[in-house]
Amino acid sequence: MAAKQIKLRAFETHDIHELHRWSNDPDAIRTVGRIPQTLEQIEKLVEKKRSRGDLCLAAEDGAGRLIGWVFLKDIEHDHGRAAIGILLAPEARGQGYGQIVMEQMIDIGFQQLRLNRIYLTTRGFNDRAIRLYEKIGFVIEGKLRQHAFMDGVYTDTYLMGLLASEWKQK
Ligand SMILES: CC(C)(COP(=O)(O)OP(=O)(O)OC[C@H]1O[C@@H](n2cnc3c(N)ncnc32)[C@H](O)[C@@H]1OP(=O)(O)O)[C@@H](O)C(=O)NCCC(=O)NCCS
Repeated sequence: MAAKQIKLRAFETHDIHELHRWSNDPDAIRTVGRIPQTLEQIEKLVEKKRSRGDLCLAAEDGAGRLIGWVFLKDIEHDHGRAAIGILLAPEARGQGYGQIVMEQMIDIGFQQLRLNRIYLTTRGFNDRAIRLYEKIGFVIEGKLRQHAFMDGVYTDTYLMGLLASEWKQK
């Protein structure tokens, strides 16, 4: 099977309405958010991320369709570290795009930003995301017990990390 073509480009203001749609998908609310968000709230989120210097990129498939976004946040050059996050459009999930998008952003982080460590947090029940991150090379570094309150229950958050030295070995 031919490799899927994915291009990362700047996340633009006109992409925000799509981000709003993806964010309000029930699976995204369960795994990334907590409650439905208004368009204004999503606009404010993007504004906040930009003002903090997060690197927010949009992912396009081979046909130029917007299929998700990926970002590096809390970029600390002094410590050579940043956190990564990803959200795909509901219709783009389950097709292997997550790995390609993550790996392209990780390459930017390690090769271009010269980071030493990329880390993330994910909910302990998000088996798909955990499987994806482990496949890429992230390891579980800690479990924050009952860190999030979801649907009336406290749920664990996993901290996962990947080092530049481990990435080079792949
Ligand atoms: C999480 C996300 C980035 C994964 O990307 P994706 O391209 O949809 O991932 P895939 O469907 O290719 O699945 C990745 C791996 O997990 C496996 N997987 C899928 N669903 C699974 C499940 N319920 N339990 C265990 N493994 C699962 C897949 O089989 C695949 O592994 P494989 O390649 O060895 O077969 C994407 O689905 C998404 O954006 N989801 C909503 C938001 C979210 O959860 N973001 C991450 C928050 S930390």
